[in-house]
Amino acid sequence: MAEPSAAQPQRFDAIVIGGGAAGLMCALAAGRRGRRVLVIEHANRVGKKILMSGGGRCNFTNLGASPANYLSANPHYCKSALARYTPADFVALVERHRIAYHEKELGQLFCDDSSKQIVRLLLDECEAGGVRIETGCSVVSVDHGEGGFRLATTRGTATAPALVVASGGLSIPSMGASGFGYELARRFGHSVLPTRAGLVPLTLSGKPLERLAGLSGVSLPIEARCNGARFRNFLLVTHRGVSGPAILQISSYWNPGDDLRLDLLPDRDAFDWLRQQQAARPAAEFRTVLADALPKRYAQRLCETVFASRPMRQYRDAELRAIAAQLADWPLVANGTEGYRTAEVTLGGVDTNELSSSTMQSKRVPGLYFIGEVVDVTGWLGGYNFQWAWASGQACGNAI
Ligand code: FDA
Repeated sequence: MAEPSAAQPQRFDAIVIGGGAAGLMCALAAGRRGRRVLVIEHANRVGKKILMSGGGRCNFTNLGASPANYLSANPHYCKSALARYTPADFVALVERHRIAYHEKELGQLFCDDSSKQIVRLLLDECEAGGVRIETGCSVVSVDHGEGGFRLATTRGTATAPALVVASGGLSIPSMGASGFGYELARRFGHSVLPTRAGLVPLTLSGKPLERLAGLSGVSLPIEARCNGARFRNFLLVTHRGVSGPAILQISSYWNPGDDLRLDLLPDRDAFDWLRQQQAARPAAEFRTVLADALPKRYAQRLCETVFASRPMRQYRDAELRAIAAQLADWPLVANGTEGYRTAEVTLGGVDTNELSSSTMQSKRVPGLYFIGEVVDVTGWLGGYNFQWAWASGQACGNAI
C-alpha cells in the first residue's frame, strides 16, 4: 500500500478488517466475484485461531449445524446465512482442496492432519480471487464520507465503498483478539450487547473447590443443566474448578448466581440402580458400589465429604432414594469463569437487529458490514462457530 503520507490512497471495492475465519471467507467470496479486496490483519499472520483450534486439527464444521445450536438475543438472525451456506458447502470446498478429514463424534469434522491445511485453503482461494492481504498492519483511523470509507493504516491509506468488520471477539487476547469491532460499531451508532466469555472453564471456591482438591485430571460423563439447556458429555476436574466439553457447553448458558445442576449418573436411573446393587451385593460398602459407576477417586471423595459409607444392606429405601436424587441433581456452585484468557468464544456483541440477515450489512450505515464472532451470534462447542464464520462471511462476500 502507499505510505500514509502519500497523496493517492489505494482504492478497493471492499476492505475487510480481520484475517480470521470470517474475514478470509468473505474476502475469497468477494474476490471470486471480481471484487478488489484488501484484508487488514494486525497480527503477524492470518488465521491464528484456526491454527490453534481443535487441538491443531481444526474442527472446521458440524454436520448437524442448525440455528438451534446458536445463542443470540435474536435467534432468527443466523437462519438465512446458515441455510445458504451449509456444512456440506464447506465440506465440498475442503474436498476440492483434497484435505483429508474425519468425523470425531456428534457430527464434528476435523482435519486428519493439521489446521494449517484450512488456513492454506483460505489463502489459496484468496490468492485465486486476487485478494490483497496485509498482515502486521494496524488501522490508525476510519473515516466515512460520500465516497465510502477511508482507512489510514500503518501501511498506508486505502479507500473503499464497503467496509467489513471481521475482527472477532475478546477471547484469547494473546492471539490478536481485540475490542476493535465493538468500538467501531458503537462509533457508527450501533448497539453492542454486553459481552462475556463463553465455552469457558468454570471456577469454584470454598467448600466446592476443597471437595475436589487433588482430583485435578479426573473426568466423568455427566449431564449439565442450566437455564433450560442441557448437555451430556464429559466433566474434567481442574486445579481451579471444572472444565470438559459438558462444562464448556453449559458455561455459555450460565451467569454468576444461576442454578447449575449436574446428573452424575446420566446413563441410568440412580435409584433403580442402587436398589439392584443392594439386592445383588448386600455386604458391599456403598463407596465400593459407587466406584463402579464413577471414577474411583471421585466416588471415594464423595463418600468422605458428602455421603457416609455403610454396607448396602443397611440402607433403607428412603435413604437410597435421597442419595439417588442428590446424584442426579447435584448443585454445582461456581463462583466465576476462567475468563477471556481461555474462553473459546465471546458471547454478545453487535446487535443483530441493526444488521441485514441476508447481507450482514448495517441498517444504519450503508456499506458497513459485520460478520463472524463480533456479531451477537455464538455457537456451541463442536465446529458450530467456524460454520457461522463461513456462512456469515459468504453471505457478506456475495453481497459486496
Ligand atoms: P477470529 O478471531 O478468527 O478472527 C479475527 C481476526 O481479526 C484475528 O485474526 C485478529 O487478529 C484480527 N483483529 C482483531 N482486531 C483487529 C484490528 N484492530 N485490526 C486488524 N485485525 C484485527 N470454533 C470451531 O468451530 N471449532 C473449533 O475447533 C474451535 N476451536 C477453538 C479453539 C480455541 C482455542 C479458540 C480460542 C476458539 C476456537 N473456536 C473453534 C472458535 C473460533 O475460533 C471462532 O469462533 C472463530 O475463529 C471466529 O472467527 P472470526 O473470523 O469472527 O474471528
